Amino acid sequence: MQVHDTIDSFRKALDAERAGGRTVGLVPTMGYLHEGHLSLLRRAVADCDVAAATIFVNPLQFGAGEDLATYPSDLEGDSRLAAGAGVAHLFTPATSEMYPGEVLTTVTVAGASEGLEGGARPTHFAGVATVVAKLFNIAGPCRAYFGEKDWQQLQVVRRLVTDLSFPVEVVACPTVREPDGLALSSRNVYLSTGQRRAAPVLYRALLAGRAAAGAGAEATAVEAAMTEVVSAEPLADLDYAAVRDDRLLIAVRFGPTRLIDNLAMEE
Ligand code: PAJ
Repeated sequence: MQVHDTIDSFRKALDAERAGGRTVGLVPTMGYLHEGHLSLLRRAVADCDVAAATIFVNPLQFGAGEDLATYPSDLEGDSRLAAGAGVAHLFTPATSEMYPGEVLTTVTVAGASEGLEGGARPTHFAGVATVVAKLFNIAGPCRAYFGEKDWQQLQVVRRLVTDLSFPVEVVACPTVREPDGLALSSRNVYLSTGQRRAAPVLYRALLAGRAAAGAGAEATAVEAAMTEVVSAEPLADLDYAAVRDDRLLIAVRFGPTRLIDNLAMEE
């Protein structure tokens, strides 16, 4: 596996792969890789001639008072995992490489960014869309793999690609969960033992919402069914439980840690 610290090196390496007739799979991440990330990497390795991963904790997508400074990282462990998964090119730029000066150009995806995560984190999706646009411009034509775990982000990225004509095919990958239903997330390490024990409440609420929908409940009743499950968990503080486009979406706080999850309304 080749590790690239500069935009120029990563761009040239992927250009050379395509010049050799090989298709490129791209997996953008913020690192601290877990089985969810690895499922995307393995899919890219299986689908494409060469797989490339990026690890960059993007300051632009963190709001004031969010966990940018404490976001977990383990570049050595990540490199081992990426190489083990079969990644050929790993891009690990410093912040100064991605943002050498003040950022005056940003990308905003209206509609898809609004409400839910965009309501709770007003600048988040502009930060995501901007860094993803940069990564697409650097990587060039490719398939790009994103997790359904971050459902609204996936919709934002799809719209970004359509509206700005990036030569990128977005591939959605299913959410990887712990045996108790908790969706894998780099932020799960923030949970105390008690909070960790309570955290599967997100998935239980989604299943309750799906059951209510299956029994014919309207959206408001489906949302109420999800809310009721979370209310019964004393350590959990509901941010939202919502139905959007036949998808159930939920965000819950455990102390300072905010977790999200989602599920198709129908199995
Ligand atoms: P990050 O949170 O590191 O996630 C990288 C990718 O892994 C995203 O596409 C995310 O949806 C996917 N992923 C995370 N947990 C998953 C799980 N349990 N199952 C399946 N896929 C999972 O999302 C970001 O980084 C950033 O916003 C990024 C797109 C890299 C832009 O900075």
